[in-house]
Amino acid sequence: MGLVTGACLAHVGHRVTCVDKDEGRVAELTEGRMPIYEPGLEELVVGEVGQGRLSFSTDLAGTVHEADVVFIAVDTPQGDDGSADLSSVGAVARMVGGALAQPEARRRQRPLVVVNKSTVPVGSGDFVSMLIEEGAAEAGGAHSSTPGNNNGATVDYRVASNPEFLREGSAVYDSFFPDRIVLGADERDALDTMRALYEPIIEQTFPTRRDPRPKAAVPFVTTDLASAEMIKYAANSFLATKISFINEIATICELVGADVGSVAHGMGLDERIGSRFLSAGIGWGGSCFPKDVAALRSIAREYDHEPLLLDATVSVNERQRKGVVAKLQRELHTLKGKRIALLGLAFKPNTDDLREAPSLKIACELYQRGARVVGYDPVAGKKALGLLSPPDLLKVAFDPYEALEGAHAAVVVTEWEEFRGLDLGRVASSMKDPRLVVDGRNLLNPSDVGAAGLRYRGFGRG
Ligand code: UGA
Repeated sequence: MGLVTGACLAHVGHRVTCVDKDEGRVAELTEGRMPIYEPGLEELVVGEVGQGRLSFSTDLAGTVHEADVVFIAVDTPQGDDGSADLSSVGAVARMVGGALAQPEARRRQRPLVVVNKSTVPVGSGDFVSMLIEEGAAEAGGAHSSTPGNNNGATVDYRVASNPEFLREGSAVYDSFFPDRIVLGADERDALDTMRALYEPIIEQTFPTRRDPRPKAAVPFVTTDLASAEMIKYAANSFLATKISFINEIATICELVGADVGSVAHGMGLDERIGSRFLSAGIGWGGSCFPKDVAALRSIAREYDHEPLLLDATVSVNERQRKGVVAKLQRELHTLKGKRIALLGLAFKPNTDDLREAPSLKIACELYQRGARVVGYDPVAGKKALGLLSPPDLLKVAFDPYEALEGAHAAVVVTEWEEFRGLDLGRVASSMKDPRLVVDGRNLLNPSDVGAAGLRYRGFGRG
């Protein structure tokens, strides 16, 4: 997320330095090698490095001295109790404070704006300020974010919250053409600095090959720090709830003989509901929804509030995963000794991210029931190799037909475009009876699959 943001801000005309403590990663990026698979990113990074607007460094203090704005874009993984682990955010904030206490910082003309882009619990803006102060004090300086309360120091800083709404797999597009930019800060000058930074995106004046541009202008939402932090959790939790809602409807559709695709279409045309995020199937995963819903539930509990709706959102999602195993058991009876192919391993298409990927949970469940599981993914295969233990829990094939060879059942786990074009006749002839296809994303056309001699089971499709 930091890399995408940095590259996009460079493209709209700013000078950007991305700092990472990992020297190997910095060297790789400088040479144009990407640590993740993200469409359009490599071209963008290489182009901006070539233009001299984007560089990489391990020197945080030196970069802070040069900067008007510092984004904190480190991860906030889920702790054991579901809450967000802020140790990386805290460490960076402290280092920024330390840099601000160095004599070089006296050359600064304007307050440094420290922007939190990592998803953090509500109130973390204060936490970041506290750690900047502590870092500065430890390094022998005294700074304050409050104008006029500088204790003799020549510079100060502001803290802002700028939650991120980009999606993996379309992160570059989302950064250039966002639905909105949200900025939380308690001081006017911080908002002004950030408005100026995002101006080319807000006004859509940066160079792009997209013709016409998808957006005319982008709403710039300014608010207090706590509300900005809350917007991020509320947005992700709402989207996760929307998916769980349609999955609940899909289950009822199956019982009554209705088709969830038609239901979602008919519902989604109501502008108040909207058609997106109404695809039923095995549910949501990834590095964001599971973590953010868990964190919001944990925040609510801290205040002795039972988040009933969010609890149900998670329960429905867990039930969808189990639904895959139940469908397989219903058709194959015993899973012992059965070979099952997983088509798609990444948590969604166009990424190689396997964090909280449904494929991994499903592979574990099937293995425990005695099945042999072979997975195929167009890009995440290498990452999946040896990820689970024991190593034979999930074998990885590098061709879809190889994964399907001799399989009693196949599960479409990720809706990669490639799977739409599978030669179903070839699939049927390489599989073994009952030649079952469990379509976890309702991707395939049931009658085409049936016509090829395969048995089809989707989610909520009558
Ligand atoms: C999500 C949000 O969509 C972004 O706005 C946000 O910035 C990001 O989290 C984040 O917090 O960093 P992302 O996790 O990349 O983005 O992926 P999504 O496209 O939202 O999909 C999340 C999961 O929901 C995937 O497992 C996907 O397969 C599933 N999904 C999505 C469904 O099951 N049904 C749908 O209709 C849509």
